[in-house]
Amino acid sequence: MIHVNENYLKLQSSYLFSHINQKVAAYKQKKPDAGIIKLGIGDVTRALPPVCIEAFHNAVDEMGKDETFRGYGPEQGYDFLREAIAANDFASRGITISADEVYVSDGAKCDTGNIQELFDTGAKIAVPDPVYPVYVDTNVMAGRTGNLKDGRYEGLVYLESTEENGFVPMPPEEAVDLIYLCFPNNPTGATATKAELERWVEYAHRNKALILFDAAYETFIRDQSLPRSIFEIEGAREVAVEFRSFSKHAGFTGTRCAYTVIPESCVVYDGKGKAHPVGKLWVRRQTTKFNGVSYPVQRAAEAVYSKAGKAQVRKLSDFYLENAAVIREAMTGLGYTCAGGENAPYIWVKTGEDSWKFFDFLLEKANVVCTPGSGFGACGEGYIRLSAFNSRENVNEAMARIGDAAGSRR
Ligand code: MLT
Repeated sequence: MIHVNENYLKLQSSYLFSHINQKVAAYKQKKPDAGIIKLGIGDVTRALPPVCIEAFHNAVDEMGKDETFRGYGPEQGYDFLREAIAANDFASRGITISADEVYVSDGAKCDTGNIQELFDTGAKIAVPDPVYPVYVDTNVMAGRTGNLKDGRYEGLVYLESTEENGFVPMPPEEAVDLIYLCFPNNPTGATATKAELERWVEYAHRNKALILFDAAYETFIRDQSLPRSIFEIEGAREVAVEFRSFSKHAGFTGTRCAYTVIPESCVVYDGKGKAHPVGKLWVRRQTTKFNGVSYPVQRAAEAVYSKAGKAQVRKLSDFYLENAAVIREAMTGLGYTCAGGENAPYIWVKTGEDSWKFFDFLLEKANVVCTPGSGFGACGEGYIRLSAFNSRENVNEAMARIGDAAGSRR
């Protein structure tokens, strides 16, 4: 008899954003004419930059001729893209990362979800609360947790991110093996200073732990004093892996391209204390389970680093940040306390009400979709997340509708 992986039975019945989609679809069936505006999932709405489209077309043409056609590519990405990433995202900012420490993939979601396979099933894991649900759910699937109780899985160490600590948790007293951090943060939009990241790097060294640093939103940082990479912190090369994505600033959510940085000196240990480079383990995993990102997509991603590409992606992230400012100002004007939205595309709004009830209220009374804070963890209860990824027109309209709905409640 084939038995189920019982760890899957510990999960909530559907993934957060699928659950929201189901609720929105059910509402649409009831009210087909409701002009719903989505400020829920962080999915971009503006077209790919023209440089990417041109590079994409050229690469497709190459695939159409025997002389320039390409079959399987290198699983870790073509050198042209790995070199462009190392030069532009790291060397130009004084960070030492070489092209062969960059691993191209089809998404930061997949990479942050897959990497846990490299670590012992007994590893003690620390996750922020609230948190991007992929980090937690993939560890549940792998059997690193007990059951869900009162919104939390037994066996995980939760790092509470609250108004009191500015949504930036500090290292716990106890020793953990693996730590997930995300800055600018999804969902709170909080950013971490160099001094705050230094404490984490120091903690990881002291405990021989590993930090998985999700920097998918780093291009939204405008404050020059804030670190954009964990590798700006001395000593991070030995204890951290960083995840980046082309999704949000270059519009690749549907095109799919991302990368993971694993420095050569980053290691994990076996039962006898012998060190093993994480990069080698990742290559072993990826070459077995992944066949690389398509050639035209990698050419399109490379174009982001041309002079014109840099200007075009900057314009895109500027646009979404302006949306974030509109949302933050409108929600603050309605009397809500907001975090994020300044160096991040997410606004974390304190409603003081049950998150899912507030979600229903916004859906039904304003026809606006948000993400309920409790979907990201127990500390998200009483909050909602609004995403800045939409047209200006829709953002303005959504804010006007929320204003009317909130006003009619008073
Ligand atoms: C989010 O809304 O949290 C993100 O869009 C999810 C993702 O990037 O997978």
